[in-house]
Amino acid sequence: MDDQRQSHPLNLDPALYVSAEAHQRERQAIFWRAWQYLGPASAVAETGQYLSVDVAGMGLIAIRGRDGVLRGFRNVCRHRGARLLPEGQGNCSLLRCPYHHWAYSDTGRLVQAPWFGTDPAIVPEDWPLEPVTVEIWRGLLFAAVDPVESLTDQLGDLVAELAEEPLESYVATDTARVQFDANWKVYADNFVEGYHIPGTHPAFFAAIDFEAFETTAHRGFVRMTAPPKAGLFYRGKWLWMWPNWTLSLFEGGMNTSRINPLGVDRTEQVYHFHFADTSDARAAARAKTIEDNLAVVREDYQVCIDTHANYAAGVYSPGPLSSRHEKGVHYFQERVRQAIEGESGASR
Ligand code: FES
Ligand SMILES: [Fe+2]
Repeated sequence: MDDQRQSHPLNLDPALYVSAEAHQRERQAIFWRAWQYLGPASAVAETGQYLSVDVAGMGLIAIRGRDGVLRGFRNVCRHRGARLLPEGQGNCSLLRCPYHHWAYSDTGRLVQAPWFGTDPAIVPEDWPLEPVTVEIWRGLLFAAVDPVESLTDQLGDLVAELAEEPLESYVATDTARVQFDANWKVYADNFVEGYHIPGTHPAFFAAIDFEAFETTAHRGFVRMTAPPKAGLFYRGKWLWMWPNWTLSLFEGGMNTSRINPLGVDRTEQVYHFHFADTSDARAAARAKTIEDNLAVVREDYQVCIDTHANYAAGVYSPGPLSSRHEKGVHYFQERVRQAIEGESGASR
């Protein structure tokens, strides 16, 4: 009996979800070191287009220069550290800081520091924007501040998993943003298991063969599958990738999302919906797929908020994880643990 009791892995320490110190360690150990999915690469397909994204509180910019080269920069002015661009996408050839109007070219070079004075004059070469590595994989845009491995190494077995899926033929047409008061890991824990489907998503539960629900952890990702019953928009495959993005297949396309911490106790999820058929004739069908999809995910937020509140109140000690349904939770939490331990080891 004791052996059986000890055989369950335990949920992660709740202190790691609520302490400011743990959050700061994660920013260094996970969000700066791992490749971050920023969004569809179509946002930076044309010369002059940029995408400005918040990654765990750090601003990142991807911009397609007039020379056609895609570059990444920290969204941090070299003068006194203001943000150059607001979040979102757009078009520009000069990055002008709103604070004191320093201006940078699309290659990151400082080209203007107006009214700075000449005694002594500033040397522009000393103050370029700080570069960030950017890469496109199968139509999806990624960036890394301080990468410890290549993007394809991080993606791991996902590369083979999606080899047959025509990702590049899908067009990202719609975006949805949701913010909620919970640590980002509470939501990731929720995403990587289907165990909560009967309790949290009754209509979704009725639309799949739950007895055949399968969760498996692979190098770099967690796969969940279930045979859908007739009429469900999902194709029955949901993927979560280290450290914080998701991809779910539905009829005629897919959604992707990034789970971005805005603070230790607030998270934003940014969804992109991608479709093969973007014709006007299919507009209503696309809108219905998006709404049906969001209706399912909206059911998760309150349970995450309430769980986080219990962690923050200090009234929870770690419980057991199901080896049938919570393999993904265990995989995610082990990766978090290893990343954080590596970080504290490195700083000792
Ligand atoms: S902080 Fe950007 S110009 Fe001063
Ligand atoms: Fe859910």
